[in-house]
Amino acid sequence: MLTVDQLKDLNNKVVIVRVDFNVPLKDGKIRDDNRIRAALPTIQKLISEGARVVLLSHLGKVKHKEAPEVVEAQKAKNNLAVVAPRLSELLGKEVAFSKDTRGENFEEAVKALKAGDVLLVQNTRYEKGEEKNDPELAKAWAKVADAYVMDAFGSAHRAHASTYGIPAILKEEGKPVAAGYLVEKEIANLMRCVDVKDSDRPYVAILGGLKVSDKIKVIDSLLKKCDKILIGGAMAYTFKKALGQKTGNSPVEDDQLDYARKCLHDANGKIVLPIDAVCTDTFENWTSKVITKEVPDGFEGMDIGPETEKLFANELANAKMIFWNGPMGVFEQKDFANGTIAICKAIASLKDCFSVCGGGDSAAAIKEFGYKDAFSHVSTGGGASLEMIENDGHLPGVDILK
Ligand code: 3PG
Repeated sequence: MLTVDQLKDLNNKVVIVRVDFNVPLKDGKIRDDNRIRAALPTIQKLISEGARVVLLSHLGKVKHKEAPEVVEAQKAKNNLAVVAPRLSELLGKEVAFSKDTRGENFEEAVKALKAGDVLLVQNTRYEKGEEKNDPELAKAWAKVADAYVMDAFGSAHRAHASTYGIPAILKEEGKPVAAGYLVEKEIANLMRCVDVKDSDRPYVAILGGLKVSDKIKVIDSLLKKCDKILIGGAMAYTFKKALGQKTGNSPVEDDQLDYARKCLHDANGKIVLPIDAVCTDTFENWTSKVITKEVPDGFEGMDIGPETEKLFANELANAKMIFWNGPMGVFEQKDFANGTIAICKAIASLKDCFSVCGGGDSAAAIKEFGYKDAFSHVSTGGGASLEMIENDGHLPGVDILK
């Protein structure tokens, strides 16, 4: 696989860069520009080489099967134009914006670029064919490009027109396709959690979040790689119920109970479940809060309890490598953030441990609680980092570059 440093003679060449500018927005404003910042080194390198840089990214979801007025509302909500001024500030140079995703105006905007100029193109998901990897759409983009750089790690698990179709065409045409710095860094760090060296053991994974069904593949894969898997968050209650424990009104996936039972049996002690929980009478506007071993009837588990915090911290104490995906509780509410904070603290106290936070909600949590620097690597891709673990290091948007 080529990397951006290996691309030669870029002066005046059009380089399409797939970035992941799928940033969280609130009231039309960017709430966290981390993903824009993460793409800067690659963009700056290409500018310094005199390339004409064309940036493609999706933002949010646009469901083209919905009624036209719904699609229009989704497009209005996910208008990528908001990113251009922020990117321009961060780069310290003007960033042009193309309202059109293809066609005459788009091609004119690309032609107008001079060496070192940057053009950001409207949300790729405005195009119906993007998620279907429509060959006509991929062709319409590929025809303006002399080279392609993939730097959207967060989207590398999607085989879409902008992440897969364009590099596939350019490769056939003998044009260079390469990984950007962000993708290179993510792959190097996450591959360490996939191809485990003896010196990285004990290797402990921490999984949280809502659903077991979303994590089956990653649990199965981690069981083969890890020495221990600590399970918190709402998904723990499905495992607790499978063991015959009380889970009250906690969200349990009854259709996953058989899987949970089999998984616990096959894990042979590798899976560690919570031993207590912080429970409330209702999810919102609760009036009663208790800490108990099992969730009482009429209550719902909202966070791991203090005994579990100690148990998990003990399991982490000797770890040489940690992979974490998913919060331990409803961390967005102060009363139920302790479990997630306890994991952050336990990891921050470790010396000589390679720790990876697999993006998504857990990355948002560690940032919010001020522990980002305590980790060896914080991934920019929630779904992508999980799929890397699940698929033994393979992602369509990376494999196509090879
Ligand atoms: C993400 O936020 O995980 C990536 O940008 C991918 O977004 P998607 O799940 O909408 O494809």
